[in-house]
Amino acid sequence: MKLKESDDGQALDVTTDLSSDAVVEISAVLRQLLADVFALYLKTKNFHWHMSGRHFRDYHLLLDEHAEQIFAMTDDIAERARKVGGTTLRSISDVSRHQRLKDNNQDFVPPEDMLAELRSDNQQLTRFLRSAHEICEEVNDVATTSLIEVWIDQTERRTWFLAETARRPEGLAAVQRT
Ligand SMILES: [Fe+2]
Repeated sequence: MKLKESDDGQALDVTTDLSSDAVVEISAVLRQLLADVFALYLKTKNFHWHMSGRHFRDYHLLLDEHAEQIFAMTDDIAERARKVGGTTLRSISDVSRHQRLKDNNQDFVPPEDMLAELRSDNQQLTRFLRSAHEICEEVNDVATTSLIEVWIDQTERRTWFLAETARRPEGLAAVQRT
């Protein structure tokens, strides 16, 4: 990548050999991902805080574990954009402008619905991560693709835990059908 000019016209040496077009593309995709990850983090915390019912302790603790893992992604996503010479999110309003995952502001959400919604959001996040991987792969940004591969594995693990935790025992499901 060529030298860029700062606001006062001084040349800034950036750390990447990626093209300017690639940097714009990578930063845009990372910005959207970061917004989704912040939205998912807050929803996971929201459900952790407002959990209720018989499985309170298990669900409350599971969601805290997930929130911690999701939050850990945020700094890496933002700093990856900066490492290639791009910029990233600056505020909560910036998050809401770029997020694709939906917020949930309902007063009460039944515990099973919380798990199902988070499972579906995590699944959706995996799709976003895969598509971000494709874009970064096209411009040979192997460092970002390598991070994304780890995030996909973590996101699929969260989805797996949410799906299994929400699964009703076969016997119980059969009884409830009759
Ligand atoms: Fe907590």
